[in-house]
Amino acid sequence: MADFNEKFLDLKESYLFSEVAKRVSAFQQREPERSVIRLGIGDVTLPLGKTVVQALHSAADEMGRAESFRGYGPEQGYDFLREAIAGHYQSFGVKLDTNEIFVSDGAKSDTGNITDLFSKDNTVLIPDPVYPVYVDTNTMNGRKIVYINGTAENDFLPMPDRSVHADIIYICSPNNPTGACYNRAQLREWVNYALENDAVILFDSAYECFISDSDLPHSIYEIEGAERCAVEFCSLSKTAGFTGTRCGYTVVPKAITSKSANGMEMSLNKMWNRRQCTKFNGVPYIVQRAAAAVFSEEGMSEARAMIAHYMENAKVISDTMTEFGIRYTGGINSPYIWFECPFGMDSWQFFDFLLEKAGVVGTPGAGFGQNGNNWFRLTAFNNKENTVEAMRRFKELMK
Ligand code: MLT
Repeated sequence: MADFNEKFLDLKESYLFSEVAKRVSAFQQREPERSVIRLGIGDVTLPLGKTVVQALHSAADEMGRAESFRGYGPEQGYDFLREAIAGHYQSFGVKLDTNEIFVSDGAKSDTGNITDLFSKDNTVLIPDPVYPVYVDTNTMNGRKIVYINGTAENDFLPMPDRSVHADIIYICSPNNPTGACYNRAQLREWVNYALENDAVILFDSAYECFISDSDLPHSIYEIEGAERCAVEFCSLSKTAGFTGTRCGYTVVPKAITSKSANGMEMSLNKMWNRRQCTKFNGVPYIVQRAAAAVFSEEGMSEARAMIAHYMENAKVISDTMTEFGIRYTGGINSPYIWFECPFGMDSWQFFDFLLEKAGVVGTPGAGFGQNGNNWFRLTAFNNKENTVEAMRRFKELMK
């Protein structure tokens, strides 16, 4: 038998959301008559917008006619979508070359796949708490991980520690799970730190469309110098309801270069292109047409309406936290509300308690890192009726 990658033994038994799903399914089998409201995984509930559905239909029709049928597409994505994405960036003042944009099936895969481009000897800096994919993929690769603490004291927005060296830095803003969002000055510090360390920032902006505060940056490229040190990942999953349709994009600037041990010039953009051409055959044409429709005027206004709907739910949840004096972050520039577990419980205890007593599913903070041990995440992605009912049940528990 071949030698298996033993680094997998360093992973937790199962991926966070699989564990949550397993516990919920066991509960439902035990108590089939109980109504369960899911505010756990950040999966959207509103259907795709009308403009997006029309684009899907007409692309499907094109695929059914000999003269407009398409086979393999460009691995990097069709120009019509790359141009639409570049246009979206221009709306917050960022000018990108379309060759720096790579269309993908979502930010989750790319934030993991990008690690192919880096040496296994690199040290990775990862905030705690954060989206578990960053830790898990680097653990699979056996890279050294150093953590930087997000706590209530720093509003879950950890800043660089100059005494620590890192080669790769993951940042997620607005953050999953805490909903906290870096401002320009804070991101500038991260960019400066990366440039000082010759490090690359892997910036996950999957929730940028939820930013309502006009002073907050949507993209790391709004910060000078970021084009020399940051790769950015974004997704239409939460922006436009694409969790099941699958489409995202990754920006790899041409200005990120390095020298090999024997002095050869290396470009991250060329390497990512090479990697994608080798391992990826692109996103389906139909889906790319749907994604391009999101960036049209009507598509964007439909997406904004969906986001507004979810943000009303976020307010229902955050108002409940305020009413009971529970410490929380998020819910303003993010669809996540991150709060301290009541009754001194740890997050898995609170998960079980909330499920058993109220039939409400959330996500235990411990799944996002040690600093989440006593914190809990609820999402605004269910519908209004269920969110209101979940908070009614929550209030009953708090009495
Ligand atoms: C989450 O709940 O954290 C997200 O839905 C996970 C994801 O986007 O993969």
